[in-house]
This record gives sequence, C-alpha cells and structure tokens, in this order.
Amino acid sequence: MTYPYQVTDFAGYELAYKRSIEDPEGFWGDIAANFTWKRKWDKVLEWDFLRPEIKWFNGGKLNITENCLDRHLEHSGHLPAIIWESNNPEEHHRMLTYKELHFKVMQFANVLKNNGVKKGDRVCIYMGMIPELAIAVLACARIGAIHSVIFGGFSAQAIADRVHDARAEYIITSDGAYRGAKDIPLKSVIDDALVGDHTVKRVIVSTRTRTPVSMIKGRDVWWEDEIRKVETQGNPFCAAEEMDAEDVLFILYTSGSTGKPKGVVHTTAGYMVWTNYTFVNAFQYQPGMVHFCTADIGWITGHSYIVYGPLSAGGTTLMFEGIPTWPDAGRFWEIVEKYKVNILYTAPTAIRSLMGFGLDYLEGKDLSSLKVLGTVGEPINEEAWHWYNKHIGKEKCPIIDTWWQTETGGVLISNWAGVTPAKPTFATLPMPGVQPCLVDDQGNEIEGNGVTGNLCIKAPWPAIIRTTYGDHERCRQTYFSTYPGKYFTGDGCLRDEEGHYRITGRVDDVLNVSGHRIGTAEVENAINMHAGVIESAVVGYPHDIKGQGIYAFIIYSGTHGDIQLSKQDIVQTVSRIIGPIAKPDKIQFVPGLPKTRSGKIMRRILRKVAEGDFSNFGDTSTLLDPSLVEVIRDGRV
Ligand code: PRX
Repeated sequence: MTYPYQVTDFAGYELAYKRSIEDPEGFWGDIAANFTWKRKWDKVLEWDFLRPEIKWFNGGKLNITENCLDRHLEHSGHLPAIIWESNNPEEHHRMLTYKELHFKVMQFANVLKNNGVKKGDRVCIYMGMIPELAIAVLACARIGAIHSVIFGGFSAQAIADRVHDARAEYIITSDGAYRGAKDIPLKSVIDDALVGDHTVKRVIVSTRTRTPVSMIKGRDVWWEDEIRKVETQGNPFCAAEEMDAEDVLFILYTSGSTGKPKGVVHTTAGYMVWTNYTFVNAFQYQPGMVHFCTADIGWITGHSYIVYGPLSAGGTTLMFEGIPTWPDAGRFWEIVEKYKVNILYTAPTAIRSLMGFGLDYLEGKDLSSLKVLGTVGEPINEEAWHWYNKHIGKEKCPIIDTWWQTETGGVLISNWAGVTPAKPTFATLPMPGVQPCLVDDQGNEIEGNGVTGNLCIKAPWPAIIRTTYGDHERCRQTYFSTYPGKYFTGDGCLRDEEGHYRITGRVDDVLNVSGHRIGTAEVENAINMHAGVIESAVVGYPHDIKGQGIYAFIIYSGTHGDIQLSKQDIVQTVSRIIGPIAKPDKIQFVPGLPKTRSGKIMRRILRKVAEGDFSNFGDTSTLLDPSLVEVIRDGRV
C-alpha cells in the first residue's frame, strides 16, 4: 500500500498545512478519496461549534473494517497485521496475517450476531491485551455495533457505571488477564459489576488464564464454544454493515473535572481518515515497518495507534500483553530486538521508570532496527527525552512528541519524524487542519510568539469529539462553552519565539498520573465513600516517575485509632470504587480544609503544600480560618 498523501519534507508539510486551512474541504476530500467507500459523501464538512454540531463526509457510506482489512487482502493478505507478544517471555508469540485477521473478525462478528447484537447496540469490552481484544473491537465495527472498551485496571464499580451509562446489553471479557506477576480475574470483576443488573443480556468470555469462573446460565457463554457454533453453521463470511460517515464507531470513557467519567463519542469516517493520516505522517510509516505502541487498547492511544491507524494503513502492529518491567526492565528492548521493531511509541512515565533501572538492561540488546521513537500522554521532561534519544534511539532516530486527547481522536500537535523539526519537550507544530490558539482567562486570544495561555482549537478536524454519550449538553459545556466558538482542551500551553507549542499541563482539576487522566472530583468521591471520611480534597504534585502523584487531604473521623491502617483502608476504598490507578500516593489527615467564606476550597494552597513549596501562599485573607494554613503546612506528609 502506498500513501499518496504522505508528506516527506518540510516544504511539503507547509504546503499541506496551508491548503488544509485555506481549503479544508478540498484538502480532506482528496485524502478521503484514498479510502474504500460504499457511497461517496455529499459534503466534506458542516460545523457549528456553538451547538456543537460537526459533520465530516456527511452522506458518505462505508465500513471501517473494509478499510482496515478487506482492502488489504489482495496485495497484503499474507503480511502480518498483528504480532502478539505474551506477558510470559517463554510463551510462543502469535502472528495474524491480514487474511487471518479478516477471517477471525468475520467469524467473531457472526458470533455477535448469533448472540443478538445488532447495529447501534453498545458492547462493553473488558479484556487484557490479547489479539481477541482487537478482534472483538473490529467485529463490533464490522456489524455496526458500538464498542466501549474499558481498561482492564478499572474496578467493578467503575465498570458498572460505564455499562450503565452506555446502556450496554452485551459484554465481552476473558476469564482473566496476565499483567506482569499478576493474574487479574476479569470475569469475576465483571460478575461483581453485574450484581443486581438486569439489562446485560450476554457476557461472552474468552479463555486466557484458565482462572476458575462462574458462568451464569442464560447469560454467560464461552467465546470458543460460540466460534465452534459458527464453524458448524458453515458460512465464514460476514458482510460489512453499511455505516453512515457520522454513525458512532465507539464510546470511550474518560475523566473530567466533575465526578462522573464521560463517554467520549467518535464517529466512523472522520476518525478513520484522521487516525490514518496522522499515523502515516507523524510516524512516517512505510509499508513493512513494525510499529510497537506500548499503550493498552483500553485507552485512546491503543484504539488509534494499535488498531485503527496502523490497520487502516495496512501496517504491522505489535500488541504486548505485559508490562515494561517484568520479568525485568529489559522487556521492551527484548521485544524490539526479537521483532525488529521500527517504531516505538510509549509514554514518558515508562521512559522515566526504565531510566531508573539503569543501563544494564540495555546491555547486549540490538536496537538497530529502530527508526522512529514517539511519546504520548504527558509532558516529557528534558532528562527523559535525552535518555530516550541517546540510549534507545542512539541519536539517530527522530523523537516525535505527540500531543492529543481522548476527545481529539488522534494526534493534533506533533513534529513529524525526520520531516519537521524536533525540539525536546515541545510537541512543536499543528497537524494540517488544526488551528491552535492561546487565550487568556477572559477568552481573549493571545497573539504573537513567546506567549502562554489556555490552549484552544479554532475549527474542527475530522476526529473531533462529536458528543458525550447520552448527554450532549455536557459535551457543549465541557469543551465548547468556556470560550464560545472554540474547542477548549483543558491544557495550558506555551508558544515560543519560533511558534512552536509546548504543552505545560492541565489547567483544570484533572490529574495526569502516569499518562492516565484522573479527575480530582472522581477520586474525592471515591475517598468520601469510606465510612470514616467527612470531607476530602485531592490535588496533584510532581512525581519523579509518574509525572504527577495524587495527594489527598482528608478530614477523618474514624475511631479505630491506627492512622496507618485507616489510610490503607482509604486507599483500598479508592481501588474498589475506581481502580488501582487512582490510589492516592499520599494522605494527610487535616482538621479542616482551607475554604473561602463562600465555601470554596482554595486548592492553590493545597497544591503548594503538596508540592512542598511554602514560599508564598498568596492572599489568604479571604479564608474562613486563615490559621488552618499553618496547621496543614506543618502536617505535610
Ligand atoms: O494534558 C494533556 C496530556 O494528556 C491529556 C489527554 O489525556 P488522555 O485523553 O488520557 O489522552 C492521552 C493520550 C493521547 C492532555 O489534555 N498529554 C497528552 N499528550 C501529551 C500531553 N501533555 C504533554 N505532552 C504530550 N505529548
């Protein structure tokens, strides 16, 4: 497969960018013409950010799996689509060619149909990183069902909230998942999530760990049994459902500054074009390259750059079940050597963590296949950037720093490998079609270079969020009302003298812990569930490896006396309500929280205490009880 829209020099990037702004419809129409459509679109773009209503390629009909699978069969059917590396280095790897993946997706799509799943139905998927996860995702898309993947680290309660919000009647899971030294009993977590539930009709369970599970009669079926039924039915074919360009492809839940996670909705055609275009251009993917994105498919990075981007480009995507530090910190490097990985895309947290293990684990590893390195999910610090460049890229691989969000569907700001200039810690320049701007708190646009502000985007790109599932008003309020007429990212940003963008972190109450987004309100709600907690406030603080750690200030009335045990109980509660990723790193019991007379918590003060910066608490005169500040400061943990 070739990519006529792949740009390979800076002048080409500038030209593409210019045309994408002056003539977006012509620009994206030309790119979209390279895909397989069942019917051409009537209009490339219609939009109104105030409602918001955004339609790309309206009137077009297609199925994304024909673009990810069928269209590659003739020339690339024998080529590897997915290479899978087990958590266990001793276990044999798996490889699925395009032909095999196509077959398996159709087979499982028939399983879904046999089990009553129809176009538009929501299917929650809660699995580990095994090829069946990708197959399940694509099988949903094949028949027009809407997938909502839930990261395997979320708790039963978090699953229940998501299943309920998506009004999902179908769940796909596994008996368990391997992650490093741990076995995660996925099916049992699903069972806990579904206690008292009467809406889920079917749970399809694939076999991975052979952990004992309880299969509920009439509701639960085994993946493998259902495949055998399809085999005996004899027809391996499953036609790709004709989807409107704007039909929903998937829902993915993400945290925001209010308590409840929201279901970010992406639609079919725009998302497909965007993930493909950004994959081919930012990473400079060439046919035959092995692309290793270390994210989990439970996050947007996995959706866009393990599944849809690489497969729509006919590429080879590597899926890794395990974690970077197990059985030891050389795991990534073994994988790079074993599969001659060409592109490595990972999070700064992983880089910092591996950096901490020293260079011994790199000893004797052949990383010479690497051509491009990427980072995503959080700001990368200089030290980690240089380590990645020197020890992994051997100073010959461009590093792309890709800034984007669940809501943006794919990369919005990034350098392009070897094509546009890289600058450590900078995401640098916008993708074609992306018009970033910085605004002050009053919403005035800040012009010129060498300035900082809140990052907004002025016009839609094809993979912009369309709505938040079941609550369009929430989408409008969260992203389109703070600065009317603009999409607000929630991030702070610097535009340097050269016009390059550097993302400085969230400006709202959202934390970024190890590249995972966690809302402070969500953690507070979970902490407040603990019987002894009266009130809590959560802030982030700089953490050497995770980027940000979670610091909780808690007013506690528990009586059983052992402070350490009480803190552990609270951590346990958060783990139960959200999942281990949201566990507070530090807990401080306080007699009160610094509130203004109107009852608002002055988080600025808490942040300073958490950071250990006592230099200047600013004006505290509006506090109800200014003396609390000293008490909290002195009790810092
Ligand atoms: O704060 C930004 C940070 O991650 C947020 C988006 O999180 P999520 O929706 O979970 O998606 C993560 C994977 C795309 C952003 O608002 N972020 C993401 N990439 C970068 C980043 N911050 C700095 N540099 C990046 N490259």
